Amino acid sequence: MKDLFGNINKNQIPKHVAVIMDGNGRWAKKNGLIRTIGHSNGVKSVREVVEASTELGISILTLYAFSSENWNRPRLEVNALLELLVKSLNKELPTFQKNNIRLEAIGEIHSLPKYCHKILQETIQKTSKNTGLKLVLALSYSSKLEILNSVKKIAQKVADEKINPEDINEDTISKELYTANYPDPDLLIRTSGECRISNFLLWQIAYAELYFSPKLWPDFKKDDFFEAIIEYQGRERRFGKTAEQIKR
Ligand code: IPE
Ligand code: IPE
Ligand code: MG
Repeated sequence: MKDLFGNINKNQIPKHVAVIMDGNGRWAKKNGLIRTIGHSNGVKSVREVVEASTELGISILTLYAFSSENWNRPRLEVNALLELLVKSLNKELPTFQKNNIRLEAIGEIHSLPKYCHKILQETIQKTSKNTGLKLVLALSYSSKLEILNSVKKIAQKVADEKINPEDINEDTISKELYTANYPDPDLLIRTSGECRISNFLLWQIAYAELYFSPKLWPDFKKDDFFEAIIEYQGRERRFGKTAEQIKR
């Protein structure tokens, strides 16, 4: 067996990794199961990448769990996803505490049903003193809506004469996003072979390294995550400069 963990340079760990967990439905179909079973098997992969992130000392792991557009799925599937979220939060709380994991959420979480919102807030509050991995769940999340809302807030500040239009800069916008307190993702992983962003962190991934895995999410394990990190470490992040400038 390859020692992927051993091949990772521990001095060059990305601070923030974001993941679009895609392919649960296709995994279920491939195995002759209903979509919901695909989602519940996806939770096992969540556990794997959370563990891997903790082992590597990654600071922030943002997982795209439910998009605003996903509300348009059949009601039974939406309900199953929400119930799975509640069940998983209840089940994982002791692990979060044991492993010093702090849970946070981004998205329109007020649009979640009450029973769901409540347990989410409770888990966020109960883990708020933990200082290890920050596990950020994107729930009812739309990046365009996030940017739109930030523009509205800034427009209001202009109308209230709290800010001059000339003083609006990139930071003004970043500070109004859900991710105001996080550095931008260094690495964005998407599973299932789809090569699109699906309305996820559009502003924040301006300079993220993109990694597309052909594996369906329930098949994505720790070693697949380690492979993504190794690939990331082999990339040269130039931020618009020349290769020579970076090496200096
Ligand atoms: C990702 O898997 C989970 C969510 C979007 C909630 P999908 O359910 O999108 O799986 P596919 O893309 O249909 O295979
Ligand atoms: C993106 O997956 C959203 C999540 C992983 C939660 P989708 O399956 O909803 O994306 P599209 O529809 O294939 O773009
Ligand atoms: Mg999908």
